[in-house]
Amino acid sequence: MKIFLDTADLDEIRRANDAALIDGITTNPSLIAKVAGDRDPKEIYREIAEIVDGPISAEVVALDRETMVEEGRKLAELHDNIVVKVPLTEDGLKACRDLSGDGIDINVTLCFSVSQALLAAKAGATFISPFIGRLDDISGEGMQLIGQIRQVYDNYGFATQILAASIRHPMHVVESMLIGADSCTLPPKVLWQLSKHPLTDTGLDAFLADWETLDVEL
Ligand code: E4P
Repeated sequence: MKIFLDTADLDEIRRANDAALIDGITTNPSLIAKVAGDRDPKEIYREIAEIVDGPISAEVVALDRETMVEEGRKLAELHDNIVVKVPLTEDGLKACRDLSGDGIDINVTLCFSVSQALLAAKAGATFISPFIGRLDDISGEGMQLIGQIRQVYDNYGFATQILAASIRHPMHVVESMLIGADSCTLPPKVLWQLSKHPLTDTGLDAFLADWETLDVEL
């Protein structure tokens, strides 16, 4: 199970990378817009790739196949670890086919149905990103979607990796693991929430209080 961090915030990326807890990064245009200011997004992608040794998803912003392919090739040239992200549209699927034909890894994003995930796999996607939280937000069943995609990919031997996205809380991560997602992409807050348990805190307080009674140092 791979864990990606879903952010373009370099401080958060360094913090998680220092703990060697992440296998890669996903970004999207909104996440880049949050941190870019005056900076060229391409610089940010390069910087991320210098910090993390793993797949870094960078998204195209064109809507037509030809421009998506141009943008995708430029993004892929930034660093060997760049994975080009394309939206799950007709043109996005065609761009996925073109770019994956060039040997570029593709993450097909904004997936909300099994039929979309099927087409992404047929188009040669390396990753499919089903958005669990956004489906749950509209009373959908995000986790059911992950399970159904797993079943279809296994039934037909598709190698496309399921990258559970739009994760809102730790149980999304746990359920994704149990249901067989290949990876999850987490906002930094959720990554650190995974480590928390109140019994860990109270247990540690009690151990240290007992230790204090010894009046010694290690
Ligand atoms: C995935 O690649 C997306 O960047 C992300 O998971 C979207 O999450 P959100 O629904 O919290 O914006």
